[in-house]
Amino acid sequence: MGNFKVKDHYFDKAKRENYLARSIYKLEEIDQRYKVLKPGMQVVDLGYYPGSWIQYTSKVIGDEGRVIGIDIQEVNTKLSGVKNVRIYQKDIFDISDLAQLEVSQAFDCVLSDMAPSTTGVQSLDQIRSLNLVESVFALLPKFLLPGGNFVIKVFDSQNAQNYLKEQKNLFNEFHYLKPKSTRSVSKEFFVIGKNFKA
Ligand SMILES: C[S@@+](CC[C@H](N)C(=O)[O-])C[C@H]1O[C@@H](n2cnc3c(N)ncnc32)[C@H](O)[C@@H]1O
Repeated sequence: MGNFKVKDHYFDKAKRENYLARSIYKLEEIDQRYKVLKPGMQVVDLGYYPGSWIQYTSKVIGDEGRVIGIDIQEVNTKLSGVKNVRIYQKDIFDISDLAQLEVSQAFDCVLSDMAPSTTGVQSLDQIRSLNLVESVFALLPKFLLPGGNFVIKVFDSQNAQNYLKEQKNLFNEFHYLKPKSTRSVSKEFFVIGKNFKA
């Protein structure tokens, strides 16, 4: 019962505030707590669709900043026309060179709310999810500038915990957060890395 209430509250709020998804409130809470986004930043949002994180990021980074969204889903035309936003329909693992995103250097911040398609078999879903997380960490040297910030969604498991422990030295600060708007039954949480050491 409680979970449905949570869903309704944030779903309605997102609708009222013209956000494309309720996930906006996860990034908002992460950013208010850990200040991952700043005006002027160049940001990449991996798995952006439908685009509420893009909407939030676009506002925070302002006219001097830019956010690039990548998703395997068709480009969301509701986002076209926003000045500091560019979106691509691509699998992020097909990007071998940042020139494919028409940028000349890595980003100040990498966001990933990506999730694998789930099977309902918990052990299999956990493995897929961890594989995805590991693949995104492997992209960081290419995508993230030294000193940059990182946010990634993770599905909890013992293996995920073990893996993350080994990664925390990549950043000066490493935090875990389960945002209030996450359904309480959900096993997802977010990892926030600040100040990438490269
Ligand atoms: C939970 S949704 C993102 C919601 C988004 N943060 C928002 O606020 O609107 C996750 C997205 O990740 C995308 N995705 C998963 N694997 C991907 C991949 N390899 N490359 C690009 N996008 C991917 C999915 O297509 C899906 O749209």
